[in-house]
Amino acid sequence: MTRVYQPTDYVVEKSRVSSFEKYKEMHKKSLEDPEGFWSEIANEFYWQTPPQPGNFVSYNFDINKGNVFVKWMEGAVTNVCFNLLDRNVRKGHGDKIAYYWEGNHPDDYSRVTYKKLTELVCQFGNALRDSGVGKGDRVAVYMPMILETVVCMLACARIGAVHSVVFAGFSSDSLAERMSDCNAKVLVTADGAWRGEKLLVLKNICDEAQQKAKQKYNHNVNTCIVVSHLNRVTPCGRLPDDIRTLYKWNDEKDIWWHDLVEGQSTICPPEWMAAEDPLFMLYTSGSTGKPKGVLHTTAGYLVYATATFRYVFDYAEKDIYWCTADVGWITGHTYVVYSPLANAATSVIFEGTPFYPDNDRYWALVDKYKVTQFYTAPTAIRALTKCGDEYVKMHDLKSLRVLGSVGEPINPEAWLWYYNLIGGGRCSIADTFWQTETGGHVLTSLPGATPMKPGAAGFPFFGVEPSLLDENGQVIEGPGEGYLVFAQPWPGIMRTLFGDHQRYQQVYFSKFPGYYCTGDGARRDEDGFLWVTGRIDDMLNVSGHLMSTAEVEGVLTEEPRVSEAAVVSKPHPIKGESLYCFVILNDGAVFDADLINSLKKLVRQRIGAFAAPDVIQYAPGLPKTRSGKIMRRILRKVAMGDHDIGDTSTLADPGVVEELFKSRP
Ligand code: WT7
Repeated sequence: MTRVYQPTDYVVEKSRVSSFEKYKEMHKKSLEDPEGFWSEIANEFYWQTPPQPGNFVSYNFDINKGNVFVKWMEGAVTNVCFNLLDRNVRKGHGDKIAYYWEGNHPDDYSRVTYKKLTELVCQFGNALRDSGVGKGDRVAVYMPMILETVVCMLACARIGAVHSVVFAGFSSDSLAERMSDCNAKVLVTADGAWRGEKLLVLKNICDEAQQKAKQKYNHNVNTCIVVSHLNRVTPCGRLPDDIRTLYKWNDEKDIWWHDLVEGQSTICPPEWMAAEDPLFMLYTSGSTGKPKGVLHTTAGYLVYATATFRYVFDYAEKDIYWCTADVGWITGHTYVVYSPLANAATSVIFEGTPFYPDNDRYWALVDKYKVTQFYTAPTAIRALTKCGDEYVKMHDLKSLRVLGSVGEPINPEAWLWYYNLIGGGRCSIADTFWQTETGGHVLTSLPGATPMKPGAAGFPFFGVEPSLLDENGQVIEGPGEGYLVFAQPWPGIMRTLFGDHQRYQQVYFSKFPGYYCTGDGARRDEDGFLWVTGRIDDMLNVSGHLMSTAEVEGVLTEEPRVSEAAVVSKPHPIKGESLYCFVILNDGAVFDADLINSLKKLVRQRIGAFAAPDVIQYAPGLPKTRSGKIMRRILRKVAMGDHDIGDTSTLADPGVVEELFKSRP
C-alpha cells in the first residue's frame, strides 16, 4: 500500500488553498462557471479592450461536428509583454529583482530588476522592428540560458512577433527544419556557451542551419542576431586568445546584438493583440517524425500560466522561485519566462549544469539565493541521487517550501529522496503532469491542499476535467486505467499546429471524437489519485525529452549500410527511458563497431546529443504481423532480455523472435 502524505503545517500555513475541501470546492466552481473563475485572474491584467461577458469561451472538440477550435476571451485586446513588465513596474515592482542570473561558472552572475528588464526588452523590440520584424512574423531563437533569451522572447511578444525557440541542444539539421517550417524571418543566437567544461559554439551550428535551410528547404533566413556571450569575465575552460577564430563572421547576414540595440530607445509601444492572436510556437516531436509546431495564443495562455504558477507553487511576494528547465522547452517558456513574470515573481535562471563545478551546484544555489520553490525533472533528481547525500548535506536548504517535478513519471524512490532529503520532510511535492500542447500544468498536487502519493500526478488543476477512456471510447468511472483525455478546453491549451490544422485535428482529436487525446495512459486509484503511466503511442521520453521512434528510425535508415530499423524504449535508471535500436543491414554490409559508432553519430548530428541511442543491435529480421506492422511489444521484450513474450501467433514469421534473442549484444 502506498503511503499518503498530507501537506505539513509548514506548507498549509502559507498556502492559498489550504485544504482538500477548499480545492474540491474551487475545482467544482471552475468547471461550472469558467467565466467567473477565470475572470478573477483576467481582471488583474491590463486590457486595451477587456474580455466581454457572455463571450468568454467557445470551442468544438468533436470533429464530427465540424472544425475543432478553441477560443477564450474573444474580442479582448491586450499585450502579454506589457502585462508582464510595464504593468508590474507601474504597480511599484520596478526595483524588484525579476531574475537572478547564475552563469555556468560560479563567479559569473548578475541580476535584473523589472524596470531594467522592461528597458532591455523595449530596446530589443525596437531593434527587431528596425530589422523588419513585425506583427505575426516568426523569429527563430537558438540560445543558451542567458538573460538575452528572455529579453528576446519578451521583445517578440511586445511587437506581436511569434517566437519559435529551438532548444540549443538540437542539431543544425533540426534547427534548419524548424526554422524553415515556420518560415522564420530572423534567427537569434549567441556566439557560444559553456555547459560545465564543454564549449558549445552555437554560432557555427546556426551558420550550418542557415545553409541547410537554403539547400534543403529553399528557405532563406537573411539575418542572424548574435549575442556576444563567450567574452565574459570567467571562461570555464581554455579559449583561444581571439574568440572570433572559433567561428566565421559574415557581414551580409550576421549582426551583433549589442550593435543592434545601441542607441535604441527604451520606450517601445506594444502591439495590441487580439485574444486569439499567436503568442508563440514551439516544436514538439510527432509520431510520424515531422515535428509539430504547437501554437499558443495570447489571452488564454497568459491567464492560465498565471493561475497555475500561483496555485501550484503557492508563490508569495518575497519568495525566490527557481525552475531549472531550459527555455528551449515548454517548461522554460511557461515556468521560467511567462508565468513568474506575470506574478511579479523573483526567479533564479541558471545557465549551467547540476554537476559543475561539482555535484552540489543545485544545492549551493538553493542556499545562495534562499530558494523557496524549486522545480526540476525526475531525470535530474535520479542523477543527483546517485551522486550521494553528502553533496546535499553541505548546504542549508531550509528555505524550500514547494518542490516541483515535471517531464516524466517520477519513480517512488526518487520522490522519497526528494521529499525527505531535499524537502526535509517539510515541503510539498507537486508532480506536475502536462505537455507542450497543454500550455501549463493540467494534473498536479496543490501544496497546502491535496494529499500526495509518491509517483502519482494527483488531481486536475482548476478548469481541467480529465477522463479515462477504454479502447472503445467508453468512459471509465471510478478506479481503472485507460487513455487520458479531456472533453473541454482550459484557457492554456494549444489552438492549432502551425500551418497544419488538419494534422492538429488528426493527431489530437480523431481517435476519440469529442476529446483532446494526450497520447498518455493513466490510472485512477481507489482514492481518486491519477497516475500517469506513460505514452501509449510510438513516442519515447528520454530524460524528459520526447521523441518519436519514427524520427530516430528515419535517421538510422539514412546510413547506407542499414535497410530497416526499429526503435523501442528500454527503461534506464537515470534517463527514465533509453533508445534501443534494431537494424537490418543491406546485402554485403557488416555489423561492426564502426557501424555502431556511425549510427550513434548520425543520430546526434540529425537530432541532437540527447537522442543518442544506448544500444544498437543487429537484427536478422523484425517481428512483423502479416500486414507488415512491427510488433514493438516483442522488441521491447528482446531489449529487456525477457523471454516471456506471450502470443506470437499473429507474426508472419515467429521464428525471428528467437534469432533476435540470440543476437542481443
Ligand atoms: C509528455 C509531454 C510538460 C513539460 C515537459 C514535457 C510526459 C510530462 C509528466 C509527469 C508523467 C509526464 C508525458 C507527456 N510527462 N510530465 N509529471 N508525469 N509524465 O513536455 O515534451 O510536451 O512532453 O511528457 O508523457 O505527454 P513535452
